[in-house]
Amino acid sequence: MALPPAFLDELRARTPLPGLIGRKTRLVRNGRQWKGCCPFHNEKTPSFYVYDDHFHCFGCGAHGDAISFVMQTEGAAFPEAVERLASEAGLEVPKATPQAAERERRAKDLYGVCAAAEAAFRRRLALPEGREALAYLRRRGLREATIAQFGLGWSGEGRGALAADLKGEGITPEQLVAAGLMKPRDPDRPEGGVVDMFFNRVIFPIRDRRGRTISFGGRILGDGQPKYVNGPETELFSKRRSLYGLDLAREGAFRGGTVVVVEGYMDVIALHQAGFAGAVAPLGTALTAEQLEALWSVSPEPVLCFDGDAAGAKAAARSAELALPLLAPDRSLRLASIEGGEDPDTLVAKGGPAAFQAVLDAAKPLSVALFDLLAGPNPPATPEQRAGFRNRLEEAARTIPDKALAAEYKRSLLDRFFAAGRSQRPAFKPRAPWAPAKGKWGRPGELASIAGLQRPPIDPAAIRQERARNLLAILLRHPAILPEVEEALGVLDLPQGEAIALRAALLGWLPVADVLDSQGLMDHLRQAGLESAAAWAVRTAGLCKAADPEAQPKDALDGWWHFFALLRGEAELVEDLAEAQRVLVETNDPVAQQRYIRLLEARNALRGGDGDQPVDETARMGSIG
Ligand code: UTP
Ligand code: MN
Repeated sequence: MALPPAFLDELRARTPLPGLIGRKTRLVRNGRQWKGCCPFHNEKTPSFYVYDDHFHCFGCGAHGDAISFVMQTEGAAFPEAVERLASEAGLEVPKATPQAAERERRAKDLYGVCAAAEAAFRRRLALPEGREALAYLRRRGLREATIAQFGLGWSGEGRGALAADLKGEGITPEQLVAAGLMKPRDPDRPEGGVVDMFFNRVIFPIRDRRGRTISFGGRILGDGQPKYVNGPETELFSKRRSLYGLDLAREGAFRGGTVVVVEGYMDVIALHQAGFAGAVAPLGTALTAEQLEALWSVSPEPVLCFDGDAAGAKAAARSAELALPLLAPDRSLRLASIEGGEDPDTLVAKGGPAAFQAVLDAAKPLSVALFDLLAGPNPPATPEQRAGFRNRLEEAARTIPDKALAAEYKRSLLDRFFAAGRSQRPAFKPRAPWAPAKGKWGRPGELASIAGLQRPPIDPAAIRQERARNLLAILLRHPAILPEVEEALGVLDLPQGEAIALRAALLGWLPVADVLDSQGLMDHLRQAGLESAAAWAVRTAGLCKAADPEAQPKDALDGWWHFFALLRGEAELVEDLAEAQRVLVETNDPVAQQRYIRLLEARNALRGGDGDQPVDETARMGSIG
């Protein structure tokens, strides 16, 4: 069955190769690609590489895309492989109908039509009639090589010029309509003939990610309206899905360039000419979810570049809102802005590449930029406004589907929220009520008085002791989780006395125990002379729900990591996390991943400040993982 190329492209774009292939062979990140032992031949040193859209083995020459990978590893036929990947990607495979087959045949022809049109436009730019257009492009600072690289052309004056150019190649006006290069003179009277879509314009071929021309944009020389005309939606061209320059940016990103989204055709071209090989632009519309997906398929963290004015802030906010529900740990954004009414084109014209590099260097991670976007131009001042703002921050974090990432965002947004509030508070003595508000935002009075409602004094040593007791009680009741936490338990700095003794006994019992059951463990502790220590640990008062013998193992585990985080302390946890991440990146191993996620959760629980709340807080914590 012939499937539409656009569908297959989408399927490939929606199937991240490292994930798919990582199920068959362990992959390790290697610069911009992934590397591992080839699943198609026996090897001990990895020579198998996975790129954003294909894999290649330098040992045995195995080569292909997601579809051929499934065919080769599962022995599936093409339709079956497509079906399987489509269902994983949440796509529906188009039905094979005669109409679909016809559409397919036409689409294939349309690439040829677009290629022929591009060649005709380029020829015209070199003719005497294109002299003015060429002079215009040169005036705008474009070099010969740049004009050629982007395939820029001249439309001619219209009146069927393009159709006449292409007639000799057997291309009909109907095909030019299908390719978006001509249109009915009067949409209501198709019999009234067709006219050129582009005339008296500089032509910008629009290409797909593989570099095939699929549509065109045209700019008027100098001033005039409309400044740009873009091709209509066709079998080949979907404005929502296309990005101008993506074919070049893919290559640029591969060589280490930053993928950056700017506003216009000329911005993309000027940036490439200035050495920014990752520049792309949507086609005169706001960024879409499909375009974000396309960006992430070439870069985990593209930069979106906006004007520094109010309209730019609004566009940035819209993009952030669009991106949040699509974020994942390896799919994020940075936001940059250009001040002073320049666009990237005028900026590099005036300040050279360094000026735009500075813009890129100042790009903020989405997690940081989001706060300012949500705060808006007028910072919240009253308690009601602050509460509303805080709700907006939490809501934004909640739209992120990845739990760990959502927790990170929430934490980081609220950190800023409270930091911005704290900077208002008096450090030692209350600010005089008449003193003017200073600091980032907000009025100081109400916050200072709320901060005055301090909790009763607490004894840190006693708290530490209770945390250790809870942590050990969970293990006494649920020793089955011991293997998973063994390593972490070993590094904890526990209070002297019962806690230390119990840990030593637990870690000694683990390698010799036949079955990891609570009864057997209690017997062991009794024989080791630790009966009273065990009784101390499981004394009911003040014990969390995770230490209940009836608790689910998963809740027990969540509870355990919660107390681990509290006892470990933040600085150490951050180090643990960095180490776990390093191991995960190196091994891409499920156990390493599990450990990393656990530590992330533990740190989130810690930063969430649950620690000073009643211990049955763990009941709620059970829902973290
Ligand atoms: P700009 O007006 O910012 O474009 O519109 P630009 O690239 O800076 O144009 P120059 O420098 O004057 O040549 C940004 C984008 O919006 C779309 C085009 O895609 C353009 O690149 N646009 C703009 C249109 O589609 N139609 C228009 O009339 C104007
Ligand atoms: Mn411009």
